Amino acid sequence: MQLFRLNSRAVRCGLWLAALIGGLGPTADLASAQAQPAAAARTPSGQAIAQARCAACHGLDGNTRDPAYPKLAGQLESFLALQLRNYKSGERPHPVMAAMAQQLSDRDIERVARHYASQAPMRHEGPTDAALLARGEFVFKVGKPGAPACQYCHGPAGQGVAPVFARLAGQHPEFIVASLQPYRKESAFANPYAYVMKAVVQEWSDDDIRAVAAYVGSLR
Ligand code: HEC
Ligand code: HEC
Repeated sequence: MQLFRLNSRAVRCGLWLAALIGGLGPTADLASAQAQPAAAARTPSGQAIAQARCAACHGLDGNTRDPAYPKLAGQLESFLALQLRNYKSGERPHPVMAAMAQQLSDRDIERVARHYASQAPMRHEGPTDAALLARGEFVFKVGKPGAPACQYCHGPAGQGVAPVFARLAGQHPEFIVASLQPYRKESAFANPYAYVMKAVVQEWSDDDIRAVAAYVGSLR
């Protein structure tokens, strides 16, 4: 009975999101696909952009070992491009990444997103405390009323689901914990997707969040 409630909630959530994505996503993609003049030959490759502007923090292959920076390797191309556009417009506020993204043209964003998406996926973290991982697996796979399980949106193995549900498998647990805090604390967002995550994570304790972060970091 309880499982049924969870599932039907997740299904409704999914339908709502599908409608949202259907309404918002493709228009932006079409607009940028049309803006591809012959100047493409003069545009630097995604790898060259990554080497010059991103590698110092994220690594050229997107597999940085420094937990201060998110891994980008094998992340969904659509998610990477969306985040870069959101940093550029200020929709996702972050002083460092805003400065980085403002130097990128729409073409640059597409190319550098393609570069990182095509790298070998994020290297998973080694084994941690078994009890912590088990608790995290419950949060990820089962969830509870009011907080549908992460796997319904981010994929059963945390591999991500295009266009907006990020890959989580192999990501630094520290980054997962840090990036979930705004969803729990902020009362208002400009971005409708953010309200979805707020509803999901505000029901979990700090310990649950740390556990699920350790669990997804251990996935390959
Ligand atoms: C000086 C260090 C630095 C440089 C250089 C840098 N970044 Fe970042 N990047 C960060 C930090 C810190 C974050 C986490 C920001 C946050 O929490 O929103 C981040 C976040 C991101 C994210 C969001 C990832 C996610 O999973 O949400 C993307 C995408 C990204 N960077 C792409 C790039 C690209 C592409 C470049 C090069 C054009 C670049 N970054 C250059 C520090 C850097
Ligand atoms: C109903 C669908 C849904 C569920 C369930 C869900 N998420 Fe999300 N998640 C999203 C959406 C949509 C975004 C993008 C939000 C935005 O753009 O601000 C997101 C973003 C994230 C991010 C930021 C990723 C990044 O790299 O910047 C993390 C981390 C995350 N989710 C973790 C989780 C965890 C852990 C769970 C389970 C406790 C979970 N999510 C459950 C829909 C979901």
